[in-house]
Amino acid sequence: MCGIIGYIGNENASPIIFEALKRMEYRGYDSAGIATFDGDFIIKKGAGKVKQLDEKLNFSQMQGTVGIGHTRWATHGNVSEDNAHPHWSCKAEVVVVHNGIIENYNGLRSFLVTRGHKFKSQTDSEVIAHLLEEATKNFGDLKEALLSTVASLKGSYSFLAILKDKPETLIAVRKDAPMIVGVGKNEYFLASDVLAFIDRTNSAIFLDNREIALVTRTGLTFFDFAGAPVIKSPTTVAWEIGDVSKNQFLHYTLKEIHEQPTSIRQTLMQEQSEIARFANTIRQTKNFFITGCGTSYNAGLLLKYLLAKKAKIRSDVFLSSEIDQHKDLMNRDAVLLAISQSGETADVLEAVTEAKSRGATILSIVNVMGSSLTRESELTLFTRCGPEVGVAATKSFTSQVALLYLISSFVASRSSNDLSGLASSIEQVLGVEKLVSDIAAKYVNANDFYFIGRGDHYPVAIEGALKMKELSYVHAEGMAAGELKHGTLALIEDGTPVVLVNPPDETYTPTLNNAMELRSRGAKIIGLSATNHPSYDEFIPLPKLQLKYLYPIVEVIPLQLMAYYAAIGRKLDPDYPRNLAKSVTVI
Ligand code: AGP
Repeated sequence: MCGIIGYIGNENASPIIFEALKRMEYRGYDSAGIATFDGDFIIKKGAGKVKQLDEKLNFSQMQGTVGIGHTRWATHGNVSEDNAHPHWSCKAEVVVVHNGIIENYNGLRSFLVTRGHKFKSQTDSEVIAHLLEEATKNFGDLKEALLSTVASLKGSYSFLAILKDKPETLIAVRKDAPMIVGVGKNEYFLASDVLAFIDRTNSAIFLDNREIALVTRTGLTFFDFAGAPVIKSPTTVAWEIGDVSKNQFLHYTLKEIHEQPTSIRQTLMQEQSEIARFANTIRQTKNFFITGCGTSYNAGLLLKYLLAKKAKIRSDVFLSSEIDQHKDLMNRDAVLLAISQSGETADVLEAVTEAKSRGATILSIVNVMGSSLTRESELTLFTRCGPEVGVAATKSFTSQVALLYLISSFVASRSSNDLSGLASSIEQVLGVEKLVSDIAAKYVNANDFYFIGRGDHYPVAIEGALKMKELSYVHAEGMAAGELKHGTLALIEDGTPVVLVNPPDETYTPTLNNAMELRSRGAKIIGLSATNHPSYDEFIPLPKLQLKYLYPIVEVIPLQLMAYYAAIGRKLDPDYPRNLAKSVTVI
């Protein structure tokens, strides 16, 4: 997944594009580049993060009031200057930036080579520039050339292009990967994410799938891949620039961990009628599925347990990338709930497409308004945690869980008043930050970390391990405590840190027994509970909750902090972990 941005207006484009790229770096940050037009193309690109590149390349000094930019997450071709975007055609008559994957690029490349084209990179994206150059030669008319180009491309892609002989027109094409037009005062933006231009305008037009936009200084034209004109109107985006600054925090991840009391309060302010419709749809089906990836899957697993316990409802939760194992169970009576922070994760969209093709009803829980998943769903409920910039999902997870508590209360026809005190319990548990950072420092050299829990705390254990892996690059495993004796116990040796998710509910004693087994094999027990216990080597206090089923949303916070401080202890950048991207828009 990459971040792409285009600008046309009265101001110099490069400083605006540079700022936007910095804000979209959570989408990919191994290389970047900008192209502007000022009588001719000026192109600067390289491997590395946008800010460092600017020191070398002086991005923000480039001239021209029209331009495009890109920050990359490599899929095809290694991280290098040649493979960084923008890419251009043989005679530099076409310059493009691309997000997504061109599946048939090899075939297209061989065809274009036979037509005399010379390629400068190993990327799939470069074929778009040559293909468009070829098509403009063949058709002359821009629209015809674009329709012929998209007809040849297979895969998921959104791209921006500028033609040397039409520098006053910014071209935007969307198939699967997101593309949004920002409508400013005498200026337009084209981007993968509203965050890119949220400081300049909150008026946005979301391109639907298989749509093309031609943007000039004076206006916008939209048509679909069949060439039919499309009428589109702007919507107002609820986010503000303040949402994407770090404020007093060192990293977005820590800021977002501390934003959770607010994001939970906001998320719980839902339209009762919407929640009721959602709950009825779940209650009325005998064939209920839940899906997601990574952290969103972990939230889905928790929902499975909640619905079983609170509403005696059976559900089938699966990893979206495993849709093939579940699709044949789906039919017109099936309901699929897809959970996704970004609403753009390719595996989730694929699972939804499969389910829809079998007549299933699609419900979704999403954080990003206007994202693809919202458009594929009959009904969407939004987590209201604002933009999440840190690659590791933190506030989006607890906002998802808060929403799942609300939904499961409605499904069980129980009052949702239980949830009114949630935000203050989160405020309380954030008080353990210093203690957790000391514990993280103590185990900073551990090579393995285990997280164990039972029942509802098992998904939390998995989530804790995922955070530790993606933020500190330490091998970490989350598991159901009861599984220890069936294999994992063999991995325990002197000093192995084990985080025990051990709140005072029906799982308390059996999990404590596991702690004793572990300790007798030399493990160091980091106990998460409301009261200390002799079998803990480290104790992280949790607030005492009246309603025990609410412990998962509180106990995950110290685990987020532990992963964050483990990353700090290992001198890593928690916001941009290696090899990862905020949402994965490629299968
Ligand atoms: C979680 O910290 C990761 N960023 C990742 O596992 C993420 O949860 C997963 O890619 C799903 O993303 P989504 O919620 O945007 O669909």
